[in-house]
Amino acid sequence: MTAIIELDRVSIAFQKEVIYDQLSFSVNDGEFLCILGPSGCGKSTLLRVIGDLLGVDTGSVTVAGFPAAQAWQEIAYVFQSPRLLPWRDAEANVILGQQLRFGRERGADEMRQKARALLDLVGLGRDTHKYPAMMSGGERQRVSIARALAVDPRIVLMDEPFSALDVTTRRRMRSEIIEIWKKTGKTIVFVTHEVDEALELADRVVVLSVKPTRVLETVSLSMPRPRNLASPEMNAARMRLTRLLGVPEQAEE
Ligand SMILES: Nc1ncnc2c1ncn2[C@@H]1O[C@H](COP(=O)(O)OP(=O)(O)OP(=O)(O)O)[C@@H](O)[C@H]1O
Ligand SMILES: [Mg+2]
Repeated sequence: MTAIIELDRVSIAFQKEVIYDQLSFSVNDGEFLCILGPSGCGKSTLLRVIGDLLGVDTGSVTVAGFPAAQAWQEIAYVFQSPRLLPWRDAEANVILGQQLRFGRERGADEMRQKARALLDLVGLGRDTHKYPAMMSGGERQRVSIARALAVDPRIVLMDEPFSALDVTTRRRMRSEIIEIWKKTGKTIVFVTHEVDEALELADRVVVLSVKPTRVLETVSLSMPRPRNLASPEMNAARMRLTRLLGVPEQAEE
């Protein structure tokens, strides 16, 4: 397994508050890695560090063999809210992501084709001309996933992308993201604070502590997907993750 992302003894403090104190972990090429940790421990900040939106005080961040500052083109984001432009339809929103990344390097026809192919992949092949106001929350988030994939990143960083969706849509989106991951072979770094979400999705789960944040443990989940969350192995893994987090067992609301 080759590492595509490596954080080596990363420390960051904001004002005088230490967020990370020598945090190290790596992400393997092509893996689905979940980052699980309590609120405020620095999960979103971690994605900003990987995407070079934020520099580190000490330590190093390597992405695809380069310092993070030289590797931003390998990376795309999916945020908790889809951040679509309301006056652009689905296709035009996916094209916009490409325009911002490629400028004139990618022709208009190619961008449109790419947008259509990816909207098709996320299940919106018939809705390419819908505007955000006409879409459900799940559909909007699918557009933002298509937009992220359209810039051909090797790595997709996802920050609690389904947490604003209702339970049923969230479940469906989780199985869909697994299908998309299998089809595209991308490396996905997925932030969540829900144990069951990590259990359903991850190859490995990096469990973070409260601040000053360090890796409590990295838990590998080798069970085949789709996973039965009620199985004895899953229950054991759930218990382990829940104990590490030190919170009462979560029931999905
Ligand atoms: N620009 C900043 N300046 C000062 N403090 C910041 C800044 N950005 C983040 N923080 C602090 O860093 C810590 C980590 O923030 P972050 O948003 O990464 O947490 P999180 O794990 O994503 O939390 P949540 O689960 O609530 O989304 C928090 O205590 C936050 O207040
Ligand atoms: Mg966050």
